[in-house]
Amino acid sequence: MVELAARAPGRARAEACANIALSKYWGKSPRGDNLTAVPSLSLTLDGLRTRTEVNFDQAQERDEVWLNGSRLNAEEVQRVVALLDRLRQRAGRSERARVVSQNDFPTAAGLASSASGFAALSLAASSALGLGLDPSALSAEARRCSASAGRSLYGGFVELLAEADSATPLAPVSHWDVAMLVAVVDAGKKPIGSTLGMLHTERTSPLYGGWLTAAPAIHARVRAGVLARDFEQVALGMEQGARLMHATMMTSEPAVLYLRGPTMELMHEISDRRRRGCPEAYTMDAGPNVKVLTEGAHVAEAERFLREFPGVLDVIVCRPGPDAALLSPAGPLASASRGVTS
Ligand code: DP6
Repeated sequence: MVELAARAPGRARAEACANIALSKYWGKSPRGDNLTAVPSLSLTLDGLRTRTEVNFDQAQERDEVWLNGSRLNAEEVQRVVALLDRLRQRAGRSERARVVSQNDFPTAAGLASSASGFAALSLAASSALGLGLDPSALSAEARRCSASAGRSLYGGFVELLAEADSATPLAPVSHWDVAMLVAVVDAGKKPIGSTLGMLHTERTSPLYGGWLTAAPAIHARVRAGVLARDFEQVALGMEQGARLMHATMMTSEPAVLYLRGPTMELMHEISDRRRRGCPEAYTMDAGPNVKVLTEGAHVAEAERFLREFPGVLDVIVCRPGPDAALLSPAGPLASASRGVTS
């Protein structure tokens, strides 16, 4: 469960891991409140972490947000301020906050930094306000900012059902010895963010109705495969889900096209390799990078293959990651192990 140790009110620091969906969320429920139209299931990843410190202070004139050493502009802080406002209202407090956040992985490269970011922010801000919210309430707050963030409060395998207020843990880190390798093929900023991309897809893709119809069965297949530790079932479900989601996006008008040449080459190669017996399966999010699920015993071989593959710029190896947690608010925010500075 999420650790909720008592902290001095006013200031708190938390850490959360990103997650990659094995069955995808793409599309909002007509009920609003950022509820999702389809169920999703993710794996929380320990290699992709965000640390966030929140400091509520009477002397602070307005909310101020720093990400990786740069101050966010008025538009970029909107979702953060909306969350802080909801939490301030719950706590009956009015002080503005200084938020300092540090990712130990590239932002906006389809690596779901908003998921770890809003999960860490929900936990740090609610703790700084002395709210003592339980994990489910924290997950709901994070989900309102970015639905995938609702899943990052929990470690291991996590589910967010369609129109659910909060995510729920499905299986712990120890359930299955797997790893996710992120093959970075383009580290640039994505052309269109996931929120706008999915709203545009809903409005203009002729395939969107088919996606809504098919997604629950794909999710059920992935879910059953995860629970049974059946790699082939998970692989078939997650790959079909990723292809269908991207087919829906790319048939929007104008197109929401995230995949690049190396993405497609890797999809071919990974399918061929699995036919030859390698436990590897691909998925892609709102970006061209390929996330490759594999079994623990096969990580070194998968990493070697990806590093040598033309067009792959970097490979980040991630094991299943833990629950979001509070940290002691002392010392530098950056993770020394990855050499990131704030
Ligand atoms: C493709 O959670 O970033 O990564 O709720 O609008 O912030 P908002 O969207 P977001 O979308 C994630 C989309 C995805 C699939 C997934 O993680 O399930």
